[in-house]
Amino acid sequence: MENHQYFLNQRRLRASSHIRELAATVMLNYKQFIQPIFVEEALALPRNIKGLPHIQVDTLNTIIATIQQDINGGITKFLLFPIPLEKKINDFNYDFASLVVNTIKNTFKEKIWLALDICLCSYTTHGHCGILNKASTMVENHQSVQELAKYALRLAAAGADCIAPSDMMDGRIAAIRTLLNQHHFEQVSIMSYSAKFSSQFYGPFRDACNSTPNSVSLKDRKTYQISPFNQTDAIASALRDKAEGADIIMVKPAALYTDIISAIKAKSNVALAAYHVSGEYASIELMHEQQLLERSSAHIEVWAALKRSGADIIISYAARNAKAWIENHLM
Ligand code: PBG
Repeated sequence: MENHQYFLNQRRLRASSHIRELAATVMLNYKQFIQPIFVEEALALPRNIKGLPHIQVDTLNTIIATIQQDINGGITKFLLFPIPLEKKINDFNYDFASLVVNTIKNTFKEKIWLALDICLCSYTTHGHCGILNKASTMVENHQSVQELAKYALRLAAAGADCIAPSDMMDGRIAAIRTLLNQHHFEQVSIMSYSAKFSSQFYGPFRDACNSTPNSVSLKDRKTYQISPFNQTDAIASALRDKAEGADIIMVKPAALYTDIISAIKAKSNVALAAYHVSGEYASIELMHEQQLLERSSAHIEVWAALKRSGADIIISYAARNAKAWIENHLM
C-alpha cells in the first residue's frame, strides 16, 4: 500500500466561526419570521398547550400583552388562530374572530402585520375543515368554499392584513380573492396553505384548538389534505393557488417536506413560506426537556434547512426568539 499524504482543503473553510459566517450560503433574518398566536373565546385565564412549551392560548385581554412582548422582542408579523366557544355544523358565528382582529388592529395599527388562519375545523362539531354532506361521509367542496369566503370577508372588514386559508378545499383562493376585491379589499393579501399534507405532526395544535376530526364516518383529513406520498399533487396545488391569486404559498409541515419547498421554488416565482408545525416544534422541545439537544441551536438548524431549501418566510412557534437567538448564535 502506498502512503497517502492528506492536505486540508474543505476544512479550512470550517476553521473558525468567522470564516464559517463568511462562507455561509444562507443567512437568517428575524424580519422574515411569523409568530403563530391563539385566542379563545370566553376563556377566563390563559391556558397552556400540551406539547407546546412557551406557547399559550390567550384570552381577549391577554393577547394584547403577548403581542406587545413579541414586538419588544423584534416580532411584528403574526398568524392568528381564533378559537370560538360554540361548535355547529353550519351557519357559523364569526363575531368573536372579528372582535379579536378588530381589538388587535385597533391597538397596534400598522405596527404589526396580522394574518388570519381561515378554516372551519374549530367551528365544526365534527372537527372537519368544512361542511359535511348529509350522510357525513365527505366534506362538501362548494358549500365550504362559499362559507370560507364569507369568513375571510368578515376578517378583512375587521382589519386583517392577510387571509391564510388552511382548509384545503378546491377553488377557495379564487373565491376569496374575488369576494375581497368586490368589497374593495384589494390590498388584503392571501397566504395559501397550498401544500398542506395530511400529517400526524398537527397533534399538539389540534389539542390547542379542540379541532381533532371526530366524525365516525370520516375519521381523518385524507380526502382534502395532500398525501405524504405525492409530490406532484403538492406542486400542482401550489401552482394552481398562485394562478388563482395567492400572494404567498405555504408548505406545511416544513422540515419533513424540504423537497417540496425546493420543487415549488424551482417551478414558480412566488413568495414561499414554510410552516414548522406544532409536532415538529414539540419534538425539539421534548428532546430539549430530556437534555438531548440545545434548544436554540436545534431550532436554528431547522430554520437554516428551510432557508437552504428555498423558503423566504418561516412560520415557527419559536419565532419570538428569532432575533435574540440569531444574533447570539455562533455559526
Ligand atoms: C387548521 C389548521 C391546522 C394547522 C393549522 N391550521 C390543523 C389541521 O389541519 O389539522 C396545524 C398547525 C400546527 O400543527 O402547528 N386546519
